[in-house]
Amino acid sequence: MKYSAITGWGKCLPPAVLTNADLATFIDTDDEWISSRTGMKERRIAHVEASDLAHVAAVRALAAANRDAKDLDLIIFGSCTGDNIVPNSASRVQHLLGADSVAAMDLNTACTSGLYALSVASAMIKAGSAKRVLVIGAEKTSSVLDWVNRNVAVLFGDGAAALVVEASDTQQGLLGESLGCYAEARDSLFIQNYGGAFTNNPFCQATSWDFDGQDIFKRAVAGMVGASNQVLDDMGLSVADIDLVVPHQANSRIIDAVGRKLGVPTDRVFVNVERYGNMSAATVLVALVEAIEQGYVRAFSKILLPAFGAGLTWNSHLVQWGDRITPLAISDIELPPCDETALELIAPYLTQQRRQLQSQIESVQQADLR
Ligand code: UT7
Repeated sequence: MKYSAITGWGKCLPPAVLTNADLATFIDTDDEWISSRTGMKERRIAHVEASDLAHVAAVRALAAANRDAKDLDLIIFGSCTGDNIVPNSASRVQHLLGADSVAAMDLNTACTSGLYALSVASAMIKAGSAKRVLVIGAEKTSSVLDWVNRNVAVLFGDGAAALVVEASDTQQGLLGESLGCYAEARDSLFIQNYGGAFTNNPFCQATSWDFDGQDIFKRAVAGMVGASNQVLDDMGLSVADIDLVVPHQANSRIIDAVGRKLGVPTDRVFVNVERYGNMSAATVLVALVEAIEQGYVRAFSKILLPAFGAGLTWNSHLVQWGDRITPLAISDIELPPCDETALELIAPYLTQQRRQLQSQIESVQQADLR
């Protein structure tokens, strides 16, 4: 049987940092609320597009695997905030990498997209239709976030990570996964004015979010725990066999609840939510890259990757690491310099959304007067 080994890994975080104190300068919130309810302290805001973040992460991942972009058979761009819908963002990454004529597809299951991309890559490798795949999780959530809504503005950030996945004869890589979707709750996270249903609509305005945080919280815990137990059952393993859990980083309280329900000791759960917030599709892949860099992943570690996202999609992936935990080479690629602060970068979005909110308030007031 063929396996799908992870041979390269890389991340890219944009340099501009948006702190809880920064958020408190324009919405009614404070560091105490955000830290205690979410575990988040700061997040990154991109000065470039999601595909630019993905490109840098990809070059770093290819260096770690010591592979050329031309050796790839497929690029999968997991994201819900790609630069464009047509053409897709994977084709831009292919172009930036100079990986001429390599197949390039976008995949959107919101926050789980990076891991669903890993599933597709692995399945195609095992089926023999690809030998080497670049899996990307990349998001520029700042461009669609509802910056005037404190329920969501504090939760998200930008970033990207990439994995090189290759055919292998030794048992490693993605061994199994459990995937699913609570579609009955798809309205719990709905971005208005974003997508084909809205484009060219005469009423199309700035994005605004319908968001039921408590519903998502409960379903996230149920989905991640259920999927984790399912994949362990399928593989004939127990929690005691798992060396590390790298969960989706949407809220430290969700992570704690998942760890508790699964019975995993906290020192086997990787957490970086305090530094990046929820980067949607990039989250678990960035966390996995940092877990490798910080020595949490060891040779042959068994790693569980549970996540959830809008849809509401859920998953848990079981990865067996190979024998190499160091990159074969390191690229010196960097993003172009950023000369704006995070607050300056989000100012245009905020201005537009404030204007829209104000005109909505005025219309309601005028209707009341009539
Ligand atoms: O990847 C998918 C993305 N979705 C998620 O990750 C969401 C998962 N859900 C959550 O993480 C949590 O439900 C939240 C962090 C969103 C909210 O935490 P909570 O403990 O469920 O708070 P809550 O919704 O019960 O709100 C409690 C209070 C409310 O005030 P009242 O009604 O009790 O007076 C909110 O208005 O906190 C208020 N609140 C805030 N206060 C200060 C909500 N957001 C903020 C804020 N700053 N940013």
